[in-house]
Amino acid sequence: MNRTVRTAVVTGGGHGIGRALCRRLQRDGAAVVVVDIDGAAAEAVAAEIGGVARATDVADEVAVLALVDEVERDIGPIDLFISNAGVAFGDGESGAVSREGGLNPSDDRWEACWQINVMAHVYAARALVPRMLERGGGSFINIASAAGLLSQIGDAAYSATKHAAVAFAESLAIDYGERGIRVSVVCPQAVATRMIGIEDDSDSMEGGFGGNDVDGIMSADEVAEIIVDESQGGRFLILTHPQVATYFQRKATDHDRWIRGMQRFREKLLA
Ligand SMILES: NC(=O)c1ccc[n+]([C@@H]2O[C@H](COP(=O)([O-])OP(=O)(O)OC[C@H]3O[C@@H](n4cnc5c(N)ncnc54)[C@H](O)[C@@H]3O)[C@@H](O)[C@H]2O)c1
Repeated sequence: MNRTVRTAVVTGGGHGIGRALCRRLQRDGAAVVVVDIDGAAAEAVAAEIGGVARATDVADEVAVLALVDEVERDIGPIDLFISNAGVAFGDGESGAVSREGGLNPSDDRWEACWQINVMAHVYAARALVPRMLERGGGSFINIASAAGLLSQIGDAAYSATKHAAVAFAESLAIDYGERGIRVSVVCPQAVATRMIGIEDDSDSMEGGFGGNDVDGIMSADEVAEIIVDESQGGRFLILTHPQVATYFQRKATDHDRWIRGMQRFREKLLA
C-alpha cells in the first residue's frame, strides 16, 4: 500500500502540526514545500529541513493554483498535498467557552473558518485532481478535527466547518478513490500547539484551552508520526486519539443521549 512521496506540499507548515509533518516527510526523503500565510515561519521551517518555503494564503484560490503550478514546474509533480492550515476563534469575545453560546454576531469569523477550514481543501483538490488523474494517482491528507465528528464546545463555526471538511474528504474519496486518488482525513483531539493556547516550540503539554482539563493531549510530533504512517497504510479516517473512536460510536448509537452528555460537559466547563 505504501507509495513513495517525492514531492509533498504542507499548508500551515510554519507552526504546530504542519511543522511536525514537514519534519517527518523530510526524514522520509521527500522534497517538502512548506506553505504558510506566515512567510517568516515557513522560511524558518524550510531552512531547518532543507525544503522550500512559499508564503501563500490558502483561502485565495488563485494563489493556491499559482502555488501548484509553480511547485510542479520548479520542483516536480506533487504526490502528496496536506491541507493542514486551519483557524479557530471561539464563540465568545474571549475565545473561551462562554454562557452566551454559539450565536457569534461576527460573520468575519464564520467566513474565515469556512474559507480556511473547508474551501482551501476544495481549492487544492480542484488544482490537483485533474493532474493526478492524468498521471495515475496522488494523495491528499486533509486535517479536520475530532470537532468534525463530534463538536468543539464553545466554537460553533469551528465545529460546523470541520464537519464540512470531513464531508468534503468523504466525497473526494468516494468520487476518485478508485481512480488512484488516495484521501485521508485526520480528526485529532487536543494537540499541544498555539491553536489551543500553548506557546509554539515550548514542548509544554500544560495549560491548553485556557487551562481547562484537556482529554489526552498529544504532541505535534506524535500526531504527525501517526498521520504519515496511517495514510501510507491507506487509511481514510485517521483518529490520532483512540478515544475519539469510542465517542464517535456512542454518538452514532444514541445521538440524543450524546447531546445530553455534551450539555452536562459544557456546564462543567462553565462552572
Ligand atoms: N491543536 C489542536 O488541538 C488541533 C486539534 C484538532 C485539529 N487541529 C487542526 O490541525 C491543523 C493545524 O493546527 P495547529 O494546531 O498546528 O495550529 P497552529 O496555529 O499551530 O498552526 C496553524 C498554521 O496554519 C497557518 N495558517 C492559518 N491561516 C492560514 C492561511 N489562510 N493560509 C496559510 N496558512 C495559514 C498558521 O500561520 C499556522 O502556521 C488545523 O487545521 C487545526 O484545526 C488542531
